[in-house]
Amino acid sequence: MTAISPETADAAALLDRVEASLKNDLVPVEIFNDTAVFRAEIEQIFTKCWVFVAHESEIPKAGDFVQRRIGLDPVIVTRDGKGGINVLSNYCRHRGTQVCQTDAGNSRFFKCPYHGWTYSNNGDLVGTPHLHDAYGERLDPKAWGLIRAPRVATRQGFVFASLDPDGPSLDEYLGGAGWMLDLIVGLAPGGMRVAGPPERYRLHADWKTAAENFAGDGYHIGTLHESTEEVAIAQGLQMMCAMARTYEFDNGHAFIGHAWTKAVHPGYVLWGYAPEITQHFDLSGLDEAQLHVVNHEPPTVGTIFPNLSFIRVNTPSVSGGPLSVITSFRQWQPIGPGEIELWNWQFVWDFMSEDEARDSYVNGQFTFGSAGIFEQDDTVAWEGAPRAAQSPWMRKAGMEFHFQQGNNSQVDQSPDPSWTGPGRKRNTGYGEHGQLHFYRHWLNVMRGNTGPGTGGAESA
Ligand code: FES
Ligand SMILES: [Fe+2]
Repeated sequence: MTAISPETADAAALLDRVEASLKNDLVPVEIFNDTAVFRAEIEQIFTKCWVFVAHESEIPKAGDFVQRRIGLDPVIVTRDGKGGINVLSNYCRHRGTQVCQTDAGNSRFFKCPYHGWTYSNNGDLVGTPHLHDAYGERLDPKAWGLIRAPRVATRQGFVFASLDPDGPSLDEYLGGAGWMLDLIVGLAPGGMRVAGPPERYRLHADWKTAAENFAGDGYHIGTLHESTEEVAIAQGLQMMCAMARTYEFDNGHAFIGHAWTKAVHPGYVLWGYAPEITQHFDLSGLDEAQLHVVNHEPPTVGTIFPNLSFIRVNTPSVSGGPLSVITSFRQWQPIGPGEIELWNWQFVWDFMSEDEARDSYVNGQFTFGSAGIFEQDDTVAWEGAPRAAQSPWMRKAGMEFHFQQGNNSQVDQSPDPSWTGPGRKRNTGYGEHGQLHFYRHWLNVMRGNTGPGTGGAESA
């Protein structure tokens, strides 16, 4: 194991305890609200892993920009005059003031409000007030430009940045999660686009709790979301865990699919999308495993480590029209110990008209928006973990969370031997395997172990 740095030394003893607990499929409560753990996460995870920062459809034109975060750092994601995408630290090189104060816009320049140093949207320093009196000659535009993320790459229009100049490429890092992403958003020419800016809201929750929920928690649906069945928005929730399929991929990524054609109707292929939508899909390049997945067991939720998740579900239309399939990508932004900001983007197919896109957006907000009927259930439930983690009583009692669903179950949870796709697939939602996979990778990365094989799902 690589030693962790002095800043994270306080977390070392706790990580040893996490390792011992994980051997018994348990997770100590402290990691959900602890200053040392949080600082170590920011340093070990968010400066090393590929982190999602924007979708290309948010910055289609030269000069477009959005302000985002990588861990705690504000970054500006820009489209420069040559069409390139830049991920720039939003700290002025003179005294660190944020040079971009708005969430999104279009600008060729970012002028620091403090003393006026001005940067091009490719990050170069291009202006310094009172140049001759202050500096005599022009400052080197590259040397004194905004500090850039060393690596930026895209997949299906999703822009990721890595603050680590070394390590796996984005495609290597995504592995099986990239395979899934291609299926989720890449079936139609042009793919998907954002339906609008992300909605953002603060939660008293830990980012890992949200990420693990989307990585594998099919078990909560029949209980936490039961009210949605009572008001006839959903049905069959009690069988959702049994009909789930789970996928674990290298680098801590994990997804759930649902066997809709088996559970709902044999004709309920391709997530249950209407023919008006599926007529745009091109399945000609898919292999046998991909065809089986999209038709019969399509991914419904998933987490790309560390903090990007997605959900695609079929929901009643707010307008009273036919069922509508919505797609939301969400990012669990760490704010502080036990605190996150949830960033939620509704996605629509690029071929959709503005009316269709608006309907999809509204339907998505109705289920998974800040006031969404499912979202409110989840976000309240997640607030318990950081509260317990702050409790001296619970810490003293050695509280650990129970992830032992795989130990004595009567259900076959073993990996499917006939699976020919990437990673591991299991034919049940029981077992909490995706969550354990997520936490085992979390521990690896917290200890500085970020090789492509960590997690062992694809290379095992
Ligand atoms: S801090 Fe930006 S110009 Fe001085
Ligand atoms: Fe949920």
